[in-house]
Amino acid sequence: EQINKGNYEHYMQKEIHEQPESLTTTMRGRLIRRASSKEKTVLLGGLKDHLKTIRRSRRIVFVGCGTSYNAALAARPILEELSGVPVTMEIASDLLDRQGPIYREDTAVFVSQSGETADTLHALEYAIENGALCVGITNTVGSAIARHTHCGIHINAGAEIGVASTKAYTSQIVVMAMMALAIGGDSISHERRREAIIDGLFELPNKVREVLKLDQEMKNLAELLIAEQSLLVFGRGYNYATALEGALKVKEVALMHSEGLLAGEMKHGPLALVDENLPIVVIATRDACFSKQQSVIQQLHARKGRLIVMCSKGDAQSVCPGDSCRVIEVPQVEDCLQPVINIIPLQLLAYHLTVLRGYNCDQPRNLAKSVTTE
Ligand code: G6P
Repeated sequence: EQINKGNYEHYMQKEIHEQPESLTTTMRGRLIRRASSKEKTVLLGGLKDHLKTIRRSRRIVFVGCGTSYNAALAARPILEELSGVPVTMEIASDLLDRQGPIYREDTAVFVSQSGETADTLHALEYAIENGALCVGITNTVGSAIARHTHCGIHINAGAEIGVASTKAYTSQIVVMAMMALAIGGDSISHERRREAIIDGLFELPNKVREVLKLDQEMKNLAELLIAEQSLLVFGRGYNYATALEGALKVKEVALMHSEGLLAGEMKHGPLALVDENLPIVVIATRDACFSKQQSVIQQLHARKGRLIVMCSKGDAQSVCPGDSCRVIEVPQVEDCLQPVINIIPLQLLAYHLTVLRGYNCDQPRNLAKSVTTE
């Protein structure tokens, strides 16, 4: 595979901007929409012989590190909703530290861009010893995780060179949403919902193209934040993962302290940090948690918080108290796919902050693309 930066200055920039194409490749041949029969389904060759076992499992356990863990967290709600199976989350090193319980009746899903991360690989060996059905979700055909799992799905996002994962994150979410559709494939009660998600997946690359147009706006925001010490990101529901992943991008490449926080926990500590100086991103796009996020915004505003609100297009007036806050308006998609859209302005922000601060975005200090030691 020919890998170069094309017209871009950095791999990270290129990989952010190629997401409409990488997502198209991820979905290619896997989504079926036949006008004649009105049939809308998902076909995941690597999983099809195991779907019955997965549906019958006692729980599904997601295991990963870093961005891959965050992608799994973003997909968790839709998997719970469509499969009806309880879904739990494990950071690979923590599962190993605790020697946490894994049972024969579990399906353990290992998410890893490289397929070589030592912690995730060791957690896989541990789950195999304990008799779980092990599923791999990787971007690397022939990688250790792809080889050692019982079955799996390749995300087909194309080679990712930038140390900070961007296009692999969005492809991982899409693969796990398709996995949720496949696992939940036989339930009549969810048929409408599944069809809406499939339609949403078809539209997604164009919506990603649209959100990428915020590039200049995110550069302007980065100019404003260039000298800050810290940035908080509040999210909840489908976009709790977006808060964690957005903050991870900012800290790993822009070398700025940043924390992703569950908005529901705001009153249990983080509120003490709020003043007129600390910038706070609140993700408040339309979904079932929207009114709760509106009230979070009001409470932060009442404490003179410096707000940057991410909202659905057309919602700027209704989400912003007064003219004190800055708004990032994003296209709206099916709620469970919204994390794919919402992370993109934060990837762009992290990228521009890094370049403006004079750091190396493709190889951040002290970090490696693939961590092959524990
Ligand atoms: C490293 C990389 C991250 C990545 C994580 C997990 O820390 O710098 O970008 O998310 O490893 O890697 P994996 O290949 O398992 O997804």
